[in-house]
Amino acid sequence: MKTRILKILRNAEGYVSGQAICEQLGVSRTAVWKVINQLKEEGYEFDAVSNKGYRIVKYPDILTQSEIESQLSGGEIVKKVVYYDKTDSTNNRAKQAAEEGASSGTLFITECQTGGRGRRGRSWVSPQGNGIWMTLLLRPDIRPDAASMLTIVAAMAVAGAVSGVIGKNSGYAGAAGLEEQKKCLIKWPNDIVLGEKKICGILTEMSAEPEMINYVAVGIGINVNTENFDEAIRDTASSIFVQTGVRVKRSEIVALFAREFTRYYESFISTGDLSLVMDDYNKMLINAGRTVRIENGGNVYTAKAVGIDRCGRLEVKDENGAESKVIAGEVSVRGLYGYV
Ligand code: BTN
Repeated sequence: MKTRILKILRNAEGYVSGQAICEQLGVSRTAVWKVINQLKEEGYEFDAVSNKGYRIVKYPDILTQSEIESQLSGGEIVKKVVYYDKTDSTNNRAKQAAEEGASSGTLFITECQTGGRGRRGRSWVSPQGNGIWMTLLLRPDIRPDAASMLTIVAAMAVAGAVSGVIGKNSGYAGAAGLEEQKKCLIKWPNDIVLGEKKICGILTEMSAEPEMINYVAVGIGINVNTENFDEAIRDTASSIFVQTGVRVKRSEIVALFAREFTRYYESFISTGDLSLVMDDYNKMLINAGRTVRIENGGNVYTAKAVGIDRCGRLEVKDENGAESKVIAGEVSVRGLYGYV
């Protein structure tokens, strides 16, 4: 009921009377009043005027189930949000819930991870209140070898959502009109960068049979308002706030991510590859047209990045114009002088 009341208040043009909420939801005045008090405790601020009703004047920067679900339309792939004040890793929560039968489209999210995990066995620093640490559980009907493309789909959705929310909060009409440094781009295959620094990483984990996927857990970590980074990652990592000076509401990013993900995911599922989304991806690809340093075991070479193909492989051209394709996971791709 909290989500439904919040949704009514959020979408209202002006004041909404307690009576109108009661009638719309078929609940008592006392029940509505209790929920309004809970919302006040969570940090929502109301203007309450007699004979007019309630209007929310300030939203807290929180990631609770009702805060996020009240911003969803119902048409998104994300169907349900499971929130934790603190947990070890949302990927662990998603995997455990998946084993216990949780549905596709459940999003596990937390304020703080005590055991956040990154790729290649690294840890992922996930402090309280500053970021978005979430995992989307999916049960797609695709071949297991196509699952890695979901990470690319998720990266596009994060980049779109971050650009969209920064654009809205910095007074621009939309992501298309953003200044270059405020546009969120992707470093192949799936690091999300703002102003050449990494603000988001994705860790996708899967349980599958040879021909069938049981579930995929797409874990996404976005540094939103983080101001200080450990010495070890300071050169490459940053946050939306540090890069843009804009403080955004984290739940707005999650809600927009849900919409963007739905758009790209449906295209991906319809073909089983990236053919319908690769043009958009290539427009977001920071490496496109740049010389990259490719490390394949002991073999290190440079080439110019062109773009991805429909399977997510990076097409590169060497100095003689010879083209080849690089497969994610097998190689490391960096800029000539640093991270990108
Ligand atoms: C990377 O190394 O770039 C991937 C980082 C992924 C971090 C996210 S935070 C939410 C989810 N839970 C985890 O333990 N890891 C992922």
